[in-house]
Amino acid sequence: RATAAPQQQRARPEYVPNRIDDPDYVRIFDTTLRDGEQSPGATLTSKEKLEIAKKLSQLGVDIIEAGFPIASPDDFEAVRAIAMDVGNAVHDDGYVPVICGLSRTREKDLETAWEAVRHAKLPRVHTFIATSEIHMKYKLRMSPDQVIENAVNAVKHLRSLGCSDIEFSPEDAGRSEPAFLYEILAEVIKAGATTLNIPDTTGWTLPHEFQSLISKIKANTPGAEGVIISTHCQNDLGLSTANSLAGAMGGARQIECTINGIGERAGNASLEEVVMAIALRGKDQMGGLWTGARPAIVGANAFAHESGIHQDGMLKNRDTYEIMSPETIGLQRVDAAGIVLGKHSGRNALNTRLGQLGFQLPEDQLNDVFRRFKNLADRKKNISDEDVLALVNDEVHQP
Ligand code: KIV
Repeated sequence: RATAAPQQQRARPEYVPNRIDDPDYVRIFDTTLRDGEQSPGATLTSKEKLEIAKKLSQLGVDIIEAGFPIASPDDFEAVRAIAMDVGNAVHDDGYVPVICGLSRTREKDLETAWEAVRHAKLPRVHTFIATSEIHMKYKLRMSPDQVIENAVNAVKHLRSLGCSDIEFSPEDAGRSEPAFLYEILAEVIKAGATTLNIPDTTGWTLPHEFQSLISKIKANTPGAEGVIISTHCQNDLGLSTANSLAGAMGGARQIECTINGIGERAGNASLEEVVMAIALRGKDQMGGLWTGARPAIVGANAFAHESGIHQDGMLKNRDTYEIMSPETIGLQRVDAAGIVLGKHSGRNALNTRLGQLGFQLPEDQLNDVFRRFKNLADRKKNISDEDVLALVNDEVHQP
C-alpha cells in the first residue's frame, strides 16, 4: 500500500499559459523597429526589419511596432511584410504578436499605416499628436481645441477604415497640462481608441511624477477603466526604465521599450531591463505585475518541460533540453527538472512527481494511475499536485 510523506512535497512552478485577461498582466510593446530605428545610425532595411521581427516574435513580445509606414516606401514595405509574415505566423500555443504601424493624425498617413498593417491577424495603428503647450504653439501652430479635433477625427477615420485596435499618444505628455490630457484622452476613448499611450517624449519626468501622472490619468479620465494605459519613456535623464516601472505601478499595463534601449537621442526604456525587473521584482514590489509565460529566459515557461520525451531526458540529464539553467540567471528552479504534468507527460515524469509527493506505487497501481492520469490530462490542461493526489488516493482506497 502506498504511503504519503507530506514533508517531501514541493511547490510546483507556476504555469499559466495566457494571462492577457489578468488585470496585472503588463504587455510588452517593442518599438525597436520604429523608435529604435530613430537612433542615429540605426537605419534598417526592410529585410533586416523582417528578420528582427521574427526574433521578437520568438521572444514572445505582445506587440511589435514595425515602423512608420508613411516615412518611406521601404518602411511601408517593411511593415507590410512583417504584418503578412510574422503577423500570421501563429505559434503552437496560439500566440501571435499584434503588428502595429505609427501614423500622424493626417488621413493619408492613417490610410497608409492601415494599408501596411491590415494583413496581420492582429493589426494595430498607433496615432499621435502633441499636447504640450510648447509643441502645440510652436510646432503644430494649433489651438488645444484644434488638437482635440484632429485626434478625434483620426481615431474616427481609423474606425471607418475597419481598424479596431487603435492606440493614441498625446506626444510630450510628460510636459502637458494634466487637465488637458484628461480631456483629450476622454474624447479619443469616445471616438474608439483602445490603448492610451503616455509618452514622456523628452525624458523630463522623475519616476514619482510619472507614476502620479499615470494614476491621475486613470482616475480622472472618463472611460479610462475600459482601455489599456501604456508608457513610452525616453531616456534623456537615464530614467526611462525607472519611469516605465513607476508607470506600471501607477496602473499602466503596457510598456513601450526597445532592445538594448535604443531610440531617439538617449534612447528608450530597455526591454531586457523592464522584463527582468518585472520578472524578478514584480510580485513583491509592484503589486503582482506579470510579464507572461512565453518570454525567453524570464517567462514562467522558459524552464518548464511538458513533453514526455523532454521530461524523460531532463530527468536523466538536464543538458538534453536546456542550453542554460535558471540558476545561471539567478533564478531558482522550484521543481528538480522543471516538469509540468500534462497530456504529453510520460510514465517516468508521473512516477517522479509521485516520488516527490512521497508515493512509491507498485507496478500495477502505477499503470492504473498512469492510465487515469492520461484520461484526465485529455480533459484538463494542467495537472496539479492535488489532481495527482486525488488519482493516487482513488487507487489506494479501492478495495
Ligand atoms: O517619444 C514619443 O513621444 C513617441 C510617440 C510617437 C509615442 O515616440
